[in-house]
Amino acid sequence: MSERTKTRKPSKQPTSPSSTTTTTTTIDKTLIPKMSSPKKYLLKPTLFAASLALLALYAFFTTTSLFPSDPTNPPPPSDRPPKPKIYVYDLPRRFTYGVIDSYLSARGGTTATSAAKYPGHQHSAEWWLFADLNRSDGRGDSPVEVVRDPESADLFYVPFFSSLSLVVNPIRAVGVVAAAGGGYSDEAMQEELIEWLEGQEYWRRNGGRDHVFIAQDPNALYKVVDRVKNAVLLVSDFGRLRPGQASLVKDVILPYSHRINPFKGPVGVEKRESLLFFMGNRYRKEGGKIRDTLFQILEDEEEVVVKHGAQSRESRRMATQGMHSSKFCLHPAGDTPSACRLFDAIVSLCIPVIVSDYIELPFEDVVDYKKVAIFVDTVNAVKPGYLTSLLRKISNESILQYQQELKAVRRYFEYEDPNSTVNEIWRQVSSKLPLIKLMINREKRLVQRDLPDSDCSCICSNHNRTLSAKLQ
Ligand SMILES: *[C@@H]1O[C@H](CO)[C@@H](O)[C@H](O)[C@H]1NC(C)=O
Ligand SMILES: *[C@@H]1O[C@H](CO)[C@@H](O)[C@H](O)[C@H]1NC(C)=O
Ligand SMILES: *[C@@H]1O[C@H](CO)[C@@H](O)[C@H](O)[C@H]1NC(C)=O
Ligand SMILES: *[C@@H]1O[C@H](CO)[C@@H](O)[C@H](O)[C@H]1NC(C)=O
Repeated sequence: MSERTKTRKPSKQPTSPSSTTTTTTTIDKTLIPKMSSPKKYLLKPTLFAASLALLALYAFFTTTSLFPSDPTNPPPPSDRPPKPKIYVYDLPRRFTYGVIDSYLSARGGTTATSAAKYPGHQHSAEWWLFADLNRSDGRGDSPVEVVRDPESADLFYVPFFSSLSLVVNPIRAVGVVAAAGGGYSDEAMQEELIEWLEGQEYWRRNGGRDHVFIAQDPNALYKVVDRVKNAVLLVSDFGRLRPGQASLVKDVILPYSHRINPFKGPVGVEKRESLLFFMGNRYRKEGGKIRDTLFQILEDEEEVVVKHGAQSRESRRMATQGMHSSKFCLHPAGDTPSACRLFDAIVSLCIPVIVSDYIELPFEDVVDYKKVAIFVDTVNAVKPGYLTSLLRKISNESILQYQQELKAVRRYFEYEDPNSTVNEIWRQVSSKLPLIKLMINREKRLVQRDLPDSDCSCICSNHNRTLSAKLQ
């Protein structure tokens, strides 16, 4: 409890006020190469102009929306923009509590009580957001206002439990309809949801652009993602999404719910005897293949603890113990670039060592992850001895500094604190509103044009940059 009180305190923003300048510089730089390529410019003048407008808007609103959370410089109340109004669809029960019932009954539980308890798991943001929107206490500090009249709404939230739906059948089998005896089909649910929405006036009105879906498990909504791609998607990463379906500009990256208890003790190195800790599945597909390689080179290193372990109560206990007693915690890519382990490490004050080249991180406009984590590209990380010698060179003093920074940001990753993560997610969603309005108005006046595929990505970022694991 005391921990929660602490995390709720408006701590110093990890970003400096210079974020305005940073954004501007980034835009200027990305303009130059485009300008110097006149052929490309002439080809797609509208698209280019639109991207510019979007970038400018994006920069403006991300920056301005920071002010309300800056304790040293709050704007006078009259200057605050009105809170975006959000309408929560009253979906048929089978899309919300019904999913919980099906999940519990597939595991031999009793069904059909309206008090069905959402099972704890790493993708439970869908529950926390649902519960938050349902709060009856006036929603004090929430960045969004819940409205009952859809006519007055700016945004529409679709509270389908898409991540839980995916795992209702005990053996997870993407693409396989209803495991034996289950009778529950996630794919059918996805289809039915979209059919239900297509019967809704407000869904059809703007092609779903002002709608918000949560798909925190990288496979959630996979069957219908092309039909909801105009909407704001709340996701963990873009591992399973194409550039035409999702982007940093349109969508919001969510943190996983941490699965181990926060470390309550003080910062320090004495009690953290291991250098590096990792526990998780050694064998993963796709980007996660690197895990086996890392196991091989780290297994015999001194002061390094790497353990193969699946999700279970016992492995959670061991992970807690390991993360609370190590200086650094390894975060290699899984099947997709992100994993809940990162957030377990953050709340454990175990400095994350991120080896996942395509990772996206939540709330990156307010959290400077270079201050709380160490990023190593895959090419270097798999060189024998590279990681451990890099980490051994980090002084006790720097470790303490990282830990202090971790302590300052961990409040962003506490779903259970009603004034913390959920509010931050709504703040991120709210920052998309000007862009949504622009796109809705623009869409209305567009005439038939000859353009190639749709493109959701209008931030240019340099994917070829080689980032050395330089420490600050
Ligand atoms: C939503 O609010 C109602 C009435 O206050 C309450 O009975 C219900 O338990 C709430 N649901 C959630 C998910 O908090
Ligand atoms: C860092 O702290 C540990 C634990 O107190 C100590 O054993 C070690 O010598 C320190 N390292 C340096 C370089 O001071
Ligand atoms: C959230 O914060 C507001 C204002 O700081 C406070 O009034 C409210 O009690 C808090 N809610 C909870 C559930 O802690
Ligand atoms: C990245 O590198 C590849 C291969 O060297 C090159 O073809 C591509 O144009 C580069 N992309 C950017 C954005 O520089």
